[in-house]
Amino acid sequence: MTANPASTELLVELTTTVNGEEVTATVPPRLHAADFLRSKLGLTGTHIGCEQGSCGMCTVVVDGEAVKSCLMLACQLDGRTVQTVESLATDDRLAPLQQAFKDAHALQCGFCTPGFLMTATALGYQGSCPSRAEIREEIAGVLCRCTGYENIVSAIENWFAGSAPPAADEAGDGATVVDVPGGVR
Ligand code: FES
Ligand code: FES
Repeated sequence: MTANPASTELLVELTTTVNGEEVTATVPPRLHAADFLRSKLGLTGTHIGCEQGSCGMCTVVVDGEAVKSCLMLACQLDGRTVQTVESLATDDRLAPLQQAFKDAHALQCGFCTPGFLMTATALGYQGSCPSRAEIREEIAGVLCRCTGYENIVSAIENWFAGSAPPAADEAGDGATVVDVPGGVR
């Protein structure tokens, strides 16, 4: 830990791999992971709704599992591999999962969509082909106020039916190194 010169609060250093890039940063110990991803790294595709673990908007994949990043401290990402929604598309080309959402009309306002995409991504890493009921069970932690869920389940089902889900090591191996100076206040 180091002292923040602007206050008496201690800062902690963390090194994490985010979307394939190794990031080192100094953060306040109470900063939650969602704020770290959004404000420190500019990954604003991770949305914030309730900040108490109820809505699932902030869901990211940590070490291959879906995690509500508002319930995690940034410092808990130290040594972990993080995947956010920004990792899915390549330039202007949608990933198959995103294309499946588009094709099935599985979004309206889209605010919840990153949470569903990352929940489904983690489900893909489990290596089995889930039933429709199992998909419903897995996405139960993400709320949508627009779609009624049916098309979201269909999109994920179609994704599993139409393409091999990505291997888990696509979440972060082959990292490059990026240093992020200073703390977030
Ligand atoms: S913002 Fe994290 S669960 Fe709602
Ligand atoms: S599409 Fe609007 S909240 Fe889900």
